Amino acid sequence: MTENAASAIRVLRHWEIQGIEQLEIYRQHGGFEALEKAVTSLQPQQVVDIVKASGLRGRGGAGFPTGIKWSFIDSKNWPHYVVANADESEPGTFKDREILEYNPYQFLEGLAICAFAVGANAAYIYLRGEFWPIAASLDHQIAEMEAAGLLGDKLFGTDYSLRLYTHLGAGAYICGEETAMLESLEGKLGQPRLRPPFPPSFGLYGKPTIVNNVETLANVPLIIANGAEWYRQLGTEKSPGTKIFSLSGCVERPGNYELPLGTTFRELIFNLGGGIFNGKNIKAIMPAGASSSLIVATDEALDTPMDYESVPRLGAQLGSASMIIIDDSISISWLINKTVHFFRHESCGKCTPCREGTYWMSHLTERITQDHFSQEEVLLLKDVAGQIKGKCLCALGEFSIEAVLSGIDRFPQDFTE
Ligand SMILES: Cc1cc2nc3c(=O)[nH]c(=O)nc-3n(C[C@H](O)[C@H](O)[C@H](O)COP(=O)(O)O)c2cc1C
Ligand code: SF4
Repeated sequence: MTENAASAIRVLRHWEIQGIEQLEIYRQHGGFEALEKAVTSLQPQQVVDIVKASGLRGRGGAGFPTGIKWSFIDSKNWPHYVVANADESEPGTFKDREILEYNPYQFLEGLAICAFAVGANAAYIYLRGEFWPIAASLDHQIAEMEAAGLLGDKLFGTDYSLRLYTHLGAGAYICGEETAMLESLEGKLGQPRLRPPFPPSFGLYGKPTIVNNVETLANVPLIIANGAEWYRQLGTEKSPGTKIFSLSGCVERPGNYELPLGTTFRELIFNLGGGIFNGKNIKAIMPAGASSSLIVATDEALDTPMDYESVPRLGAQLGSASMIIIDDSISISWLINKTVHFFRHESCGKCTPCREGTYWMSHLTERITQDHFSQEEVLLLKDVAGQIKGKCLCALGEFSIEAVLSGIDRFPQDFTE
């Protein structure tokens, strides 16, 4: 591990502080000082400006600058809401769960600071249905915060009041998409809305709403406590700070690794992750879970920094940084059959190219893995994927074709009869 990587723990602080999931211990280590500082000595706009200056980018997948998103809130339309996205359904992503289970107060404090910054008096935590034990713990932690005067009416003797609520989904991947999540939170069928308007102007119950990922929010208390310049000491200029990389697949030591953005793939996979298991060779990397394009694991790719600017140069996205590592015993046609099957199952069915396209891609990749296929069928698969591209209501349709098109183009040897 490099020296830079070794000193990079900012969110997974339970690795260094035992018992930080308890309110008392969290407070002994500076917990809730940032919230108090924000509410008692800063104006909401100043909080937004600090987060903007830090360069923090959303950790839910798109990497959108967080402070800029907060500044989009429509201040003329009230009330405002914040929704924390704890749906975490991307195959290969398991970082938010670790934060929620082991360092929950840092996330809750970040959520409260966000609510103060955008003028919201109510914030919701939308959790995937399978996280019901975490929801129960969060309910307990929220009650403890209320009892300690860290939530509720007139916080720290000011006029600002805030309540937090948990809400469980029913285990649908699409409810991680922010507008489907808002529909679900309103008690409706979880299907995406047409955008624009975007949630900061038309969100929950039609009111201005900020949706942020759990990891994004967990970064906020340290930024307010230590300042934007401190935050920028790690990471790159355009991708500052640390990121939790969920490493899985054919590696010796899978798990969550919090590292400065800009750490190379090689450092993560070989130095920290222990390399490929059973002495096999690395073949491909999916840097953003099942939604990801496949990267050919050349030396050049392995030496590429993992940040929001560099990964696209390899024809992929950093996304939520769920690094699935593929070894040379795995056929890419088999792999894309698995990803397509997932998207076919999770397509909400609202638009035809995604609903029908994922069905046909699933059917064709099934034939290809069973070796009953001709090159015409591979071309047909590419054609069906091409019909989905750019024609869907939400990004799930696009996600479903990333591995298919990159797999056929970059690993043609795995699609021969
Ligand atoms: C199909 C789909 C699934 C998504 N799932 C998640 C998810 O599980 N968690 C998450 O934070 N963002 C997810 N997103 C991204 C959210 O729509 C949204 O951009 C994000 O929560 C914004 O937070 P951030 O700005 O902090 O990244 C998903 C997007 C799509 C299209
Ligand atoms: S792209 Fe797929 S998941 Fe998204 S709205 Fe259309 S059918 Fe639903």
